[in-house]
Amino acid sequence: MKIDILTLFPNMFNNIFEESIIRRAKDEKKIEINIHNFRDFTTDPHNKVDDTPYGGGAGMVLMPQPIFDCVESLRNENSKVILLTPSGIPYKQKMAYDLSKEEHLIIICGHYEGFDERIRTLADLEISIGDYVLTGGEIPAMVLVDSITRLIPGVINERSHLEDSFNENYLLDYPTYTKPRNFRGMEVPEVLISGDHKKIEEYRYNESIRKTKELRPDLLGEDK
Ligand code: ADE
Repeated sequence: MKIDILTLFPNMFNNIFEESIIRRAKDEKKIEINIHNFRDFTTDPHNKVDDTPYGGGAGMVLMPQPIFDCVESLRNENSKVILLTPSGIPYKQKMAYDLSKEEHLIIICGHYEGFDERIRTLADLEISIGDYVLTGGEIPAMVLVDSITRLIPGVINERSHLEDSFNENYLLDYPTYTKPRNFRGMEVPEVLISGDHKKIEEYRYNESIRKTKELRPDLLGEDK
């Protein structure tokens, strides 16, 4: 998969994709990530990318021209263009699965007070990572790339996906333990040491339900 990220702050992405699983996915050519500064595409003599809003009001608004030209230089018939904005569709694991099957993503990071409404016409999908306002779309772009990359076939052991929280059952992950068996008086549940795989499976399923009821009861009624 190829991912192109459009931003005014390319340095924010320094190193973030250079560690751990994403680094490995890049090295193994399962994913290619390119960062583009759309200021490079402005035709304004002073390199402007934003201006005051028509009708008045606070702050600066991103102008359409640099973003249109940048997207148009990258887009082909297999591209999916994503606009990151707090008013987008709430991002969920199911969306990450669907996006992990795409060939080419172009992710636009908004900034400042907002962007010219006409920029929305470029987008196939508008995504919000949560009901809060960040200073820009850069951190949301990192969230998307991380959550999508781990779902690309061969990037991590696929059994791990099945055991993820928010998998197809919409249950939280069951609790896991490692050595030592007793840590400061806290014991590993006996069943996990029993070697009885059927019982372990049952325990894990029940714990997933118990944890979901306790921590995220809203998920139990959630539509996929
Ligand atoms: N830009 C600013 N806040 C955002 C959010 N919550 N999700 C996506 N993009 C954003």
